[in-house]
Amino acid sequence: MEKRGNFSNKIGFVLAAAGSAVGLGNIWRFPYLAAKYGGGTFLLVYLILAVTFGFSLMIAEIAIGRKTGLSAIGAFKALDKRFGAVGYLAAIIPIIIFPYYSVIGGWVIKYLVTFCSGGGMAAANDNYFGTFAAGTAEPLIYFFIFIAFTALVVWFGVEKGIEKVSKVMMPILVVLTIFIAIYGLTIDGAKDGLIYYIKPRLSDFTFKTVIAAMGQLFYSMSLAMGIMITYGSYMKKENNLESSVRQIEIFDTAIAFLAGLTIIPAVFAFSGGDKAALGKGPSLMFVTLPKVFDSMPFGNVIGTVFFVLVLFAALTSAISLMETIVSIFSDKLGWSRHKATLIVFICAVAIGVLPCLGFGVLDFIHIGAMTILDIMDFVSNSILMPICALFTCILIGFVVKPKAVIDEATRNGEKFKSRNLFVVVIKWVSPICLVLILISSILDALGIFTI
Ligand code: PHE
Repeated sequence: MEKRGNFSNKIGFVLAAAGSAVGLGNIWRFPYLAAKYGGGTFLLVYLILAVTFGFSLMIAEIAIGRKTGLSAIGAFKALDKRFGAVGYLAAIIPIIIFPYYSVIGGWVIKYLVTFCSGGGMAAANDNYFGTFAAGTAEPLIYFFIFIAFTALVVWFGVEKGIEKVSKVMMPILVVLTIFIAIYGLTIDGAKDGLIYYIKPRLSDFTFKTVIAAMGQLFYSMSLAMGIMITYGSYMKKENNLESSVRQIEIFDTAIAFLAGLTIIPAVFAFSGGDKAALGKGPSLMFVTLPKVFDSMPFGNVIGTVFFVLVLFAALTSAISLMETIVSIFSDKLGWSRHKATLIVFICAVAIGVLPCLGFGVLDFIHIGAMTILDIMDFVSNSILMPICALFTCILIGFVVKPKAVIDEATRNGEKFKSRNLFVVVIKWVSPICLVLILISSILDALGIFTI
């Protein structure tokens, strides 16, 4: 068995974990949800949940990883034999997400290439995205480039691959995001959008706001799929657990906030205050935003910068997904990192072809309006993740007891400042919230309660 990799220090760990957390979810999903669910109200609910619910789940997962020194399957089993199955469940989630996430990563490269070569005007055309995604060769090629790069980083391992890439990409990402956000706010008419985005209004508060914010939080912090367990297993024992988690959380939330600051006021101004333009979901980034860039001075440059940052965000998340799968196979079957990387790469390419072509030649495969990509997204995010998180809470809250996590967080004599909060949230608040998320997403899928 190869020696287990390690992040060299706390910053390396925090940046890599933040790299996993900060992804398409922050830049594309967060702004559109915030816009749809009441702007400032959503923002406030999200922040409250992040420091309670998100914090507790994340510290629990990282502690499980560091304590056992194993990835999900082994880690759950090591804590309690009866929970071995949850480990398998956690392992399946990244296997489903990784291929389709890479398909979207491929789209991002396509847009980057388009803006970089001055094609912003073409990208602003309504049919541009649809025509591209419905193609065969082009989406496949871009998907392949994205996934091949990801595999290359994972091939080099924790310290020389993941940590190095995160240390370069994450700071650049922060600078670019701030730059774009400031630029976006200078547009005429952006002020009203800004107010909508940051000012909470009680009248906008609904149950759905909470459900949507909770689902987003989960996805955004890469929880409930074994990723943080795996990364925790690479964390040095002497690094402070609680403050690392707080830093990852702040990083993730700040980038999401800034992405909203970039997108919401700009789209608001562009559409003349029409909120419907913001509620467009997937097409917001690939259809509406190119129009906004096209209407700006230096649109091609801004578009290029924007898609570079999206690409960095997507890559570091995809790396964490692939690393989790590779680490599961190496732990379980004793494969070397290189062998596992190669095999996972080949399988992921094979699986990814399906969602990649699901908008074109394979578009006859669908459930209702859901394409293959939507189906994979729904099964993993809305069904499997809440189930996995629920069992994690039960395991920590009632079987091994919160003390196991508390001991891990205080092993070097540190103080665990949010200890009481952690215990209440992991035992009671999270399980209740998770059951609500699960029920609401099933009802949503059946069309009974639409989010
Ligand atoms: N957390 C990532 C984001 O915000 C998404 C992600 C989901 C990453 C699942 C890895 C695994 O986009």
